Amino acid sequence: MSERVIALVDQRHPSWALPTPSTPLQLAQLPLDQLQRPLRDLRISVTDRCNFRCSYCMPKEVFDKDYAYLPHSALLSFEEITRTASLFAQRGVQKIRLTGGEPLLRKNLEILIAQLAALRTPEGLPLDLTLTTNGSLLARKAQSLKEAGLQRVTVSLDGLDDAVFRRMNDVDFPVSDVLAGIEAAQAAGMGPIKVNMVVKRGTNDHEIIPMARHFRGTGVVLRFIEYMDVGATNGWRMDEVLPSAQVIERLQAQWPLLALQAAAPGETAERWGYANAQGQHDPALGEIGVISSVTQAFCGDCNRARLSTEGRLYLCLFASQGYDLRPLLREQAASDAHIAATLDAIWRGRSDRYSQRRSELPPEQGSSPARRVEMSYIGG
Ligand code: GTP
Ligand code: 5AD
Ligand code: SF4
Ligand code: SF4
Repeated sequence: MSERVIALVDQRHPSWALPTPSTPLQLAQLPLDQLQRPLRDLRISVTDRCNFRCSYCMPKEVFDKDYAYLPHSALLSFEEITRTASLFAQRGVQKIRLTGGEPLLRKNLEILIAQLAALRTPEGLPLDLTLTTNGSLLARKAQSLKEAGLQRVTVSLDGLDDAVFRRMNDVDFPVSDVLAGIEAAQAAGMGPIKVNMVVKRGTNDHEIIPMARHFRGTGVVLRFIEYMDVGATNGWRMDEVLPSAQVIERLQAQWPLLALQAAAPGETAERWGYANAQGQHDPALGEIGVISSVTQAFCGDCNRARLSTEGRLYLCLFASQGYDLRPLLREQAASDAHIAATLDAIWRGRSDRYSQRRSELPPEQGSSPARRVEMSYIGG
């Protein structure tokens, strides 16, 4: 029985053959990919399950009671995740984001967080450790997550209007519980807290101003995300994308905003600060961000890799295949040096830049979703 389940999963997620690493590993030289991009950011999905059914991510019609989620034996254990993450840290990773599905559904996640918080870069620095959550369990868990070593969180929230939000999460979850989660994270001392809002034209774009008004001056960084053609199930249409330029225009009509410099190279978000009466950025009023993967691709310095729940490494959010690292960790009991050298070889071969290519293609050819992996499987 379990064999049949695993075969189905394997068929859904085919993987590339692992490259043969060149030995010995050149420790002093961190890998650059084919487009000279370093490896800095690792996103680790700890479960492919979620208690929400956002239509842009896990539409109910597909992710129903018959959907074949990964069996528990397929998931990487905390020890396997931590070992892999430590090898990534050796090869350049400085930031780790735990994602899902909904990561707070993974039992005893605090144990994993404590293990990851203990990792160090080759220079001896701790990693920037964060987590993306839908906020539904955050009020309950914020304190224990902080105590385990989580520095900050990003909460997904698509609107303040309760009816709009309940419709978008499609499980009738109330907005007040997510807001309580954000407050609990603030009270626990996590920061900076970010809130991600996916904007779908005609569905929640009227929530842009109320969301900005709510979070302005609270220290929470609100980011507006263009609805993306990720995965193969969300029925994406270009006319439901509201370009970030229009989001900024609408905000500018209410409050003066100033463009801010990127906080780090390869960042997803373009930052804008609220201005004071003198026309200068007022840190007390805070900032917002726009993430424009559709209208202004940011593949040029994309330094992100994604590790799926079952240990497959994906080099792009829009990939259809990954590299299966789990056999190295399990059956083959490969050495740290061998795995590190394999990671190097994989990264050196990378040339993905999906969003950029899409914007070079005519709209009707821009997205061919047939076999793309779902975001709930590799994480945002
Ligand atoms: P911070 O370090 O907190 O600024 O996080 P981040 O912006 O790197 O990560 P986050 O997961 O919050 O990203 C926000 C959203 O941007 C995601 O939910 C995705 O919708 C989108 N996104 C993140 N990474 C990528 C990427 O590599 N490619 C594309 N196309 N979109 C991405
Ligand atoms: N477009 C843009 N962002 C998406 N996310 C999931 N699906 C999409 C999509 N189709 C992002 C959201 C959410 C995070 C978990 O994943 O930002 O907050
Ligand atoms: Fe769940 Fe987040 Fe996907 Fe919504 S976007 S279904 S909350 S994983
Ligand atoms: Fe990186 Fe792929 Fe996103 Fe481009 S589309 S920014 S290459 S993950």
